[in-house]
Amino acid sequence: MCGIVGYVGARECTEVLLNSLSKLEYRGYDSAGIAVFEDGEIRTRKSKGKIQDLVSKMETEGRITGHCGIGHTRWATHGEPSDVNSHPHGNANVTIVHNGIIENYKKIKEFLTRKGYVFESETDTETVAKLLDCFYEGNPMQTIQRVLDEIEGSYALGIMFRDYPGRIYAVRKDSPLIVAVGENEAFIASDVPAILKYTKNYYLLEQDEIAVLDNGRVEFFDDHGAPKKKQMLVADFDEEAAKKGNYPHYMIKEIHDQPVSIKTTVTPRIVNGMPNLEECGMTYERLKNYKNIFVVACGTAMHAGLVGKYVIEKLARVSVTVDVASEFRYRDPILSKDDLVILVSQSGETADTLEAMRLAKRNGTDTLAIVNVKGSSIARDADMVIYTHAGPEISVASTKAYMVQLSVFYLIAFSLAYANGRITEEECRHLVEQLTQVPDQIEEILKTPENCQYVASQLVNADNLLYIGRGLDYALSMEGSLKLKEISYIHSESYAAGELKHGTISLVTEEMPVIAVATQRDLFEKTISNVKEVKSRGAYVVLVTHEGQEVDKEAADCIITVPSIDDLLMPMTAVVPLQLIAYYTSVLRGNDVDKPRNLAKSVTVE
Ligand code: AGP
Ligand code: GLU
Repeated sequence: MCGIVGYVGARECTEVLLNSLSKLEYRGYDSAGIAVFEDGEIRTRKSKGKIQDLVSKMETEGRITGHCGIGHTRWATHGEPSDVNSHPHGNANVTIVHNGIIENYKKIKEFLTRKGYVFESETDTETVAKLLDCFYEGNPMQTIQRVLDEIEGSYALGIMFRDYPGRIYAVRKDSPLIVAVGENEAFIASDVPAILKYTKNYYLLEQDEIAVLDNGRVEFFDDHGAPKKKQMLVADFDEEAAKKGNYPHYMIKEIHDQPVSIKTTVTPRIVNGMPNLEECGMTYERLKNYKNIFVVACGTAMHAGLVGKYVIEKLARVSVTVDVASEFRYRDPILSKDDLVILVSQSGETADTLEAMRLAKRNGTDTLAIVNVKGSSIARDADMVIYTHAGPEISVASTKAYMVQLSVFYLIAFSLAYANGRITEEECRHLVEQLTQVPDQIEEILKTPENCQYVASQLVNADNLLYIGRGLDYALSMEGSLKLKEISYIHSESYAAGELKHGTISLVTEEMPVIAVATQRDLFEKTISNVKEVKSRGAYVVLVTHEGQEVDKEAADCIITVPSIDDLLMPMTAVVPLQLIAYYTSVLRGNDVDKPRNLAKSVTVE
């Protein structure tokens, strides 16, 4: 959500800022802007719309140029997307970019208004810019510390003071920010892909740490202004990994990345044919002591948790509750020291998931994070972390991150079931072996996307859609439905197939296509009965099932099969056609597949 960048060094700064901002476009934004030191003055250009709109504006207003500057892509929270609400904010003395929400901005605004300040924008951010200006008496560090004492909420801030050309201050709380270093140059950015063109070396800024970038050097201070030494990290992927390559969109590239992502996530966690999560602190001994498991996450990550619940409960017979993080944190959940809370997040920065984790920790409950972005807030603060190794996921619609989250849930379920004595070593080995076959099966599915392209052509004009399934297929339907609606903008719902006739079937007409997922052998006939119910009411029906399943050809208008594997593992292969259907439908509708409207990749506000 929102992108912050900053640069100090010998390069032409505007070029660097625009390039780095473009690498953060995937996070979602509605406006863009930059501020640059030019001839000792801070000059700002900003515009509603895309980075290209900012570039066009600079063509008319004049391009600003220099060697020190900050940039921003805004995802509006306070005030509509407009030129005036766009960042940077401030005045000739101090200018800032901000990601997050200042919760007590009204109080600060009243205070500043009494002091005679006049506000131009509707943003919460402008209050921070003006408060810095109000407190400033020549010492930026002291000013920032004073402001940090006053503001509440979440923030990543890039700050420039007119008296200190060539210098950027950066600070963050509950919003991500990294500080990167090259040769005699330094950067700030919301995420690693923004700096990969220039350097792979970076530092993770901790809560309320202040970084000072000056003349290509970087220094860190704690919130009392005492200098701090920090460990430099090296990005474990390069610019290529964060590029589309020959694919038209990141989403389809990332769908194709899935076989490799599974291998890199699973292989290091299999030792002599058995699952092994010890490097993450998850010994069999520790696992078997948990009485209840809670999985807490948002969106697609939560859907991975739903699959996890089925598999863990089925194999290990341990109760699993899955919660949407924004509900969990306010529902006063009953947690004990014998429970485990699993947080799932691609970005590791999702505000609600992060808060849910803090709640669990306050209750003394063990927390395990399944996270893709190394060093992200959730990964750093959890008691244990299992990193998924999907590499950078750029498309807003999550695909490969979901796939590797599933992989980790399987490893946990197998380990737990074995630790609890619910499956024998032989059964455990067999399941692990089945899991290692999934990448090849996905490769097979990806060789023939034509069926999914055809289905997309049938759905493209639909206004509403239903996904149905039972058991694991229901969990999967939820993900299929979310994928379709977020990028195609077609309204869709997922329903437990058996629940349809309790109300929702009244919506089914020839105008309402239905995608039925039926990969579970023991539930197949029951789901097919539901398929017949919707078909006989005129719906266009697509059936997703596994190869070798006998199906009455009349049952559906289009049948998509995926290679057969143990029923428990079917979500990993069956999700692929659902991802492809969503992708091709979005392409046919001419949508911005990778950057769907109103959405952000990393949701760092509540
Ligand atoms: C997925 O396609 C979404 N855009 C969204 O639901 C996402 O999964 C959710 O916001 C959680 O993000 P996280 O995994 O980074 O925590
Ligand atoms: N709350 C700020 C605004 O609405 C920052 C939003 C963002 O993170 O982009 O301008």
